[in-house]
Amino acid sequence: KTNTPFTIVIFGASGDLTVRKLMPALYHNFQKNRLPAGLRIVGFARRDWRDEDFREELKKGVQAHGASFEDAIWNELAPSIHYFRGDLDAAKDYRALQAHLDCLAPGATGCLYYLAVAPDFIGPVCAHLKAAGMAAETHGFRRVIIEKPFGRDLTSARALNREVHEAFAEHQVFRIDHYLGKETAQNIIFLRFANTFFEPVWNRRYVSNVQITVAEQVDVGRRGGYYDKAGVLRDMFQNHLMQLLALVSMEPPASLDADAIRNEKVKVLGTVRPISMADTVRGQYEGYRSAKDVAPDSQTPTYAAVKLFIDNWRWQGIPFYLRSGKAMIAKSSAIVVEFQPPPDVIFNLHGNQGFTPNFLSICIQPDEGIQLRFETKVPDTVAESRSVNMSHSYHEAFPGIVLPDAYERLLLDALKGDAALFARNDDIENAWHLMDPIIQGWDASSRVSPLEIYPRGSWGPKAADALLAKGGHAWRMGC
Ligand code: BG6
Repeated sequence: KTNTPFTIVIFGASGDLTVRKLMPALYHNFQKNRLPAGLRIVGFARRDWRDEDFREELKKGVQAHGASFEDAIWNELAPSIHYFRGDLDAAKDYRALQAHLDCLAPGATGCLYYLAVAPDFIGPVCAHLKAAGMAAETHGFRRVIIEKPFGRDLTSARALNREVHEAFAEHQVFRIDHYLGKETAQNIIFLRFANTFFEPVWNRRYVSNVQITVAEQVDVGRRGGYYDKAGVLRDMFQNHLMQLLALVSMEPPASLDADAIRNEKVKVLGTVRPISMADTVRGQYEGYRSAKDVAPDSQTPTYAAVKLFIDNWRWQGIPFYLRSGKAMIAKSSAIVVEFQPPPDVIFNLHGNQGFTPNFLSICIQPDEGIQLRFETKVPDTVAESRSVNMSHSYHEAFPGIVLPDAYERLLLDALKGDAALFARNDDIENAWHLMDPIIQGWDASSRVSPLEIYPRGSWGPKAADALLAKGGHAWRMGC
């Protein structure tokens, strides 16, 4: 529990994010008694609402999207929620907001700004905050949370970073990637470094390949306007998949401090070899072009798979396969670390058809857990073997504990000033370095890894299987 009185201002407070994610997360933190007394939550938007209207909207949001709702808790929290009508473009509205904040919470020290706004507004809102004297940390902390996309390529990401840094120093900036807030992603560091027996084999001598899958069953839905300009590499790879890749491949950080962790992530992403265009696959699900706000001849990929190599001591020569897509057969995110086969000398005379390689699956969602696949002798046979699982399931190991939504932890960390689970500017730039050439290569020629239309409810393009088969590998069903 933090003890500093603070204010959270949500810019763009009338949007979807506030009701679906931010308010349920704040509510649950309050319910768990993790927010300080004296907190103020202030929504800033253009709608003509009063405090009561805003509170009513948020209440409905928590009821619909939160894990549990109690009237008594809500009634305790509601008086600290306020609404301020303002225009993101109007300098005077920021000055008026500051005056309003001074009245609401005289003497409050910390202020966290959540920019739940369209990407084009991030720079201007930061500039307005600075001009209104709201960015300087003269009376307590001033922090800003920014949502992705952080630019559309390296150049625009750098420009955005410069704009943000005009107003805020890097230690004040929290770039949110909700994958880092997922319990199972946080656990990767624990799995690797709080145990003795995984780390010694976590390298090129024992690992044969690593697979990261983020498969979604949902399609683009009503987000066609945004998605058609973004595509899967900007929407999922540049951020979520690159972060998972860094967590699974980085060296042990010296501590859990934000910079200790982020230095290691930056170091490892900086050693990824430029990805060969021949090692990329792109796909689009059948029917995507008839989705709302999508161009009828759209070439935007809704699926991608890539093979990459990390040129460092630990991983040299070991392929990492990453894939993500929409409208796939299942919602399933997993990291699979596949191990080298054992020497083939003892069992080959007994007619074994070859063993399934040992692999460790880290199930990110939805069946959160960890599984180790290994060979065992089938009882009552001479020498028949079969692969079986050793499993850890969150739901069985921690009965009664509801896994918190990622935003719960991330908001709390931002309030405490702990940026370990947030991306740093160099992190973002490294990720664009890797994605940009693929996006450009695909845009420049339809012959480079041609767009394959895949059926809805499938595992995506066939070319993605061929990508692994080339290296003698196959996608493993992680969870
Ligand atoms: C978002 C993407 O960042 O992550 C969406 O913009 C995607 O397109 C979502 O659906 C996936 O998040 P989760 O938590 O449902 O896996």
